[in-house]
Amino acid sequence: MSRFDSKTAIVTGGGSGIGAAISKALASEGASVVVTDIKLDAAQSVVDQITAAGGTASAFEQNTAVWEHSEAAVAFAKDTYGALHLAVNNAGIGAAPQTIGDYDIEAWDRVRAVDLDGVFYGLKFQLPAIVEAGGGAVVNMASVLGTVGMAHNAAYVTSKHALVGLTKVAALEYTAQGVRTNAVGPGFIDTPLVRSGLSTEQLTALEGEHAAGRLGTDSEVAALVLFLLSPEASFISGSYHLVDGGYSAH
Ligand SMILES: NC(=O)c1ccc[n+]([C@@H]2O[C@H](COP(=O)([O-])OP(=O)(O)OC[C@H]3O[C@@H](n4cnc5c(N)ncnc54)[C@H](O)[C@@H]3O)[C@@H](O)[C@H]2O)c1
Repeated sequence: MSRFDSKTAIVTGGGSGIGAAISKALASEGASVVVTDIKLDAAQSVVDQITAAGGTASAFEQNTAVWEHSEAAVAFAKDTYGALHLAVNNAGIGAAPQTIGDYDIEAWDRVRAVDLDGVFYGLKFQLPAIVEAGGGAVVNMASVLGTVGMAHNAAYVTSKHALVGLTKVAALEYTAQGVRTNAVGPGFIDTPLVRSGLSTEQLTALEGEHAAGRLGTDSEVAALVLFLLSPEASFISGSYHLVDGGYSAH
């Protein structure tokens, strides 16, 4: 028996980085995974890797900033696999760094629409579906920047802090009905997105801001997410769990 046998999961933004690692880890432990992404080809590529390894998964094109897509993703999971038990609201974006006085209004709206509104839209359809399935769990992907600030990143920091509050409300409303909701806050993770935006000097400085002296890996985040989704975490709901190598410890 694997931890997620006979469970169906949705992972948003599952076509790359952390979401891809979570999708593969869930499938390797028995879940049927709906890998959603705004880039369908990226989601399909992760699904191909999962099926080649003997797992079960389907790709679904979804822009999480459009609420109808969240409704459609949940309907797709139920139609394809019969029920929805688990969801990881992982899709997220950043914006070019700028001070608040110079902050581009469109960038503010774009980041908030994915990093905050998109998670609300996900929960709105996932939570009732998971209750209908007899219970399960949800993880919202915040960031260490859901608890500490970072200059020049107003939209991202604000959205991730708000996501922690939204997680608490979801837990208060649905835990007694069998759906636990938690948030995860990674430090800086060694994904192509993070690495490609930095010079060697900037990368070294960023590594040094983590007590671990390095960036995290997507599988270190996936391990925490899978624990929170699993029955081992049966008394954990409405809380925010850092996986940040000590970034926020000083
Ligand atoms: N990488 C890090 O250091 C880090 C740290 C803390 C938190 N996070 C969070 O983890 C999550 C994943 O980050 P990542 O580093 O793996 O990023 P990534 O860019 O590698 O992957 C994100 C995926 O989401 C998809 N996506 C983007 N906008 C979307 C939308 N509107 N609808 C659906 N899919 C969309 C992208 O196509 C991509 O496949 C994000 O929420 C991010 O804020 C990342």
